[in-house]
Amino acid sequence: MNRAALESVIQGSVDRHRGKPGPLLVILHDLQAQWGYVPDEAVPLLAEALTLTRAEIHGVISFYHDFRTTPGGRHQVQVCRAEACQAQGGRQLEAAVREHLGIDWHDTSADGMVTLEPVYCLGNCATGPAVRIDDAILGRVTPDRMRTLLDDLQREPVNISGLMTEAPHG
Ligand code: FES
Repeated sequence: MNRAALESVIQGSVDRHRGKPGPLLVILHDLQAQWGYVPDEAVPLLAEALTLTRAEIHGVISFYHDFRTTPGGRHQVQVCRAEACQAQGGRQLEAAVREHLGIDWHDTSADGMVTLEPVYCLGNCATGPAVRIDDAILGRVTPDRMRTLLDDLQREPVNISGLMTEAPHG
């Protein structure tokens, strides 16, 4: 972790959000967008910049499951666990993904290629079960199709943009 870059991102984010209510969440999102996780080194810097205790910062990071404290895998896979997708085979899809990767939610595959996260609606409810792979949202994903997609992800390179099959809608 480059400390100067970290300080620069934190200072820029603090400056942008100064005076707004509850800037910590926004700044944490900025950090995660920049690095894919919130590095430990950010906590004392944030505490000083926002006049909060380190415990308060840790408390917010651990409360929101969206924030990672370790680097994620090369690819982010989100499986929708909301009701409409579950009614269309989402539970079987979840089980297939976890079993195929050998990991649970919020974990990263042993090869470092895939991080698995739950999500609660991707706006693609009519064509569930839905998943997001990096920036692509896919619909009507069967366990077999998902296994093939995961195998492709774990082999480099893969063109994710070619995976988009359904326009997101509610
Ligand atoms: S419920 Fe899964 S995309 Fe909306």
